Amino acid sequence: MSSSSSDVISGGSIAVAIVSVITGGIVVIVVAILIYKCCKLRMWRKYGLSPPELPASPPPRPRSDDDHAVAALTTTTVDVIKERPVRFSSPQLREMTGDYAERLGAGGFGVVYKGQIPGGLAVAVKVLGSDMGRRAEEQFMVEIGTIGRTSHVNLVMLYGFCFDADLKALVYECMPKGSLERYLFFLDEQEQGLGFHKLFRIAVGTAKAIRYLHDECARRIIHYDIKPGNVLLDEELEPKVGDFGLARLCDREKTHLTMTGGGRGTPGYAAPELWKPVPVTHKCDVYSYGMLLFEILGQRRNYMHGMESQEQWYPRWVWQRLEHGETEAVVARARAQGGAAAADKAERMCTVALWCVQYRPEDRPSMASVVQMLEAHDHVAAPTVSPFAHLDPQVIITTSSSSSSLLHTDDTTGGTTSTHISHHIT
Ligand SMILES: Nc1ncnc2c1ncn2[C@@H]1O[C@H](COP(=O)(O)OP(=O)(O)O)[C@@H](O)[C@H]1O
Ligand SMILES: [Mg+2]
Repeated sequence: MSSSSSDVISGGSIAVAIVSVITGGIVVIVVAILIYKCCKLRMWRKYGLSPPELPASPPPRPRSDDDHAVAALTTTTVDVIKERPVRFSSPQLREMTGDYAERLGAGGFGVVYKGQIPGGLAVAVKVLGSDMGRRAEEQFMVEIGTIGRTSHVNLVMLYGFCFDADLKALVYECMPKGSLERYLFFLDEQEQGLGFHKLFRIAVGTAKAIRYLHDECARRIIHYDIKPGNVLLDEELEPKVGDFGLARLCDREKTHLTMTGGGRGTPGYAAPELWKPVPVTHKCDVYSYGMLLFEILGQRRNYMHGMESQEQWYPRWVWQRLEHGETEAVVARARAQGGAAAADKAERMCTVALWCVQYRPEDRPSMASVVQMLEAHDHVAAPTVSPFAHLDPQVIITTSSSSSSLLHTDDTTGGTTSTHISHHIT
């Protein structure tokens, strides 16, 4: 009797223990799921994207059913996506791109495909690696949050995105003429270039887009990757700046943003301070824009292997020509393409470029001044200090004075003599 009752008791406690373990386990799982969902929701909110407000994505369906997946995207959707970014599902994007049939290009973040939303709207779908790390996922959110709130005639519009487990992608307005990079560097022999007047227009439009990002958005946006590949062209060859993948929002009051995790941007366009552990400001975009201006001016890459050494690094060659009063050598190509008016624009472009690539960020103009200088009809004085002085081992740039001055080290005496290069370009 006692043994059987103790058996019942121990059997009962085992049952109780099992039930408790199972209940405990379920509670832990439910809490974990809730915490996870909460974190996800907070992440969406952090970037200004509220999933419940977004059109619901249909669950992934087998391929045979996919034919109808995009049917949900009516012309109303076309109107909606012009208002704010829409969330698409992975099957919808496959359908929109015709199973990723047409490739528009590829960049650091992934491949870009052509697509179409029913109703006829052409889109460019940028597919990002699905095995993203946490950092890349955050970057993705930043990109959506950043572009979703911008609207400017010279900025590429973000229509939507996909954030499914198997696919992370961005859906942009399609820019039918591709990027400026192609027109500057990759034209076939028989293809006609854009001509200097059009190139100048593109330069001004691009400057206006960056001015908007810096000064006219609710919060300042630093692009970090201004280069010809990120200046896209519409049907009329009007420019729109795209690829905010590296953009970071920062408070206008906080003028400095200290970068961690090494350099960013693209070599050749990235400002020198981006490669150093020093505070970075929006002036890094001004530097990259200056490098872009040089490439527009020369209609060649700034750095070219195999050229005569003086011309290999085009921006420095330009500075040297102006220093020697040989402006015509710089503007000759523009003059050949568009006469005296183009030569005049080229000279202004050249002066502005030299200001933009000044070594010290504080010596570079704001993008508002850049636009003003480019559009001004009066003469713009060129900087008096070579932007490339820091590349010369014998020259040290003093950083104490409000305007840059150069100290030439005097090897024979060991002393230094302050020399202000006073070369105004006329
Ligand atoms: N919205 C778009 N419309 C048309 N083509 C695009 C668009 N976005 C990107 N592309 C093309 O895809 C290429 C790769 O773009 P991207 O991924 O942004 O890389 P990157 O900026 O490094 O070139 C671009 O150079 C351009 O030719
Ligand atoms: Mg790009």
